[in-house]
Amino acid sequence: MPGVSRVVLAFALALGTAACGGPAPPPFRHVADVKQLMKSVVEPAADEYWDGVGTIIDASGTWDIRPETNEEWDALVNHAYVITESGNLLMLGPRPKDGGEWMQLSRQLVDVGEKAVKAAASHDPQAVFDVGAEVYEVCTACHAKYSPEITRPNVQPAQ
Ligand code: HEC
Repeated sequence: MPGVSRVVLAFALALGTAACGGPAPPPFRHVADVKQLMKSVVEPAADEYWDGVGTIIDASGTWDIRPETNEEWDALVNHAYVITESGNLLMLGPRPKDGGEWMQLSRQLVDVGEKAVKAAASHDPQAVFDVGAEVYEVCTACHAKYSPEITRPNVQPAQ
């Protein structure tokens, strides 16, 4: 009786799902590996953030770099969000190199990224500058441990 066995099978599957504790995991599909995530997502956002505020000294004098318009400040906030959420992406799927220090450093990127969001949202150039240095420390701490050939996170290693 094929009809009955199908019913039994369907029941067993339903039971199995319930026994495993509810809904299936989210259907993540990880496209960028760590290297690509760094290259395409993390580094461009961090570069924009670091370039957002600063001082240039040249022959004609000293120039303060800072966002001038609300749109420019908003862009800085957006770059900070990219840095922040990248920390979460680093913890997902096949990206973590271990379950300990990697996770802590990724979480630090989330935390310092959120500080960067707040600094930019408050339109405070000094805060953006200071938090930028903290972001840099998290980048270099992780590279020192997991990718020591990278000396500075904003310089591409020779290929
Ligand atoms: C949790 C660890 C971790 C954090 C945090 C991290 N990185 Fe990385 N990053 C890596 C690893 C590992 C690699 C080497 C990837 C590889 O070559 O497979 C890398 C590679 C890179 C590269 C080289 C990419 C390439 O093209 O080879 C750049 C640039 C980079 N990171 C920038 C950054 C910046 C900027 C930050 C901070 C805003 C940052 N990273 C934070 C782990 C991290």
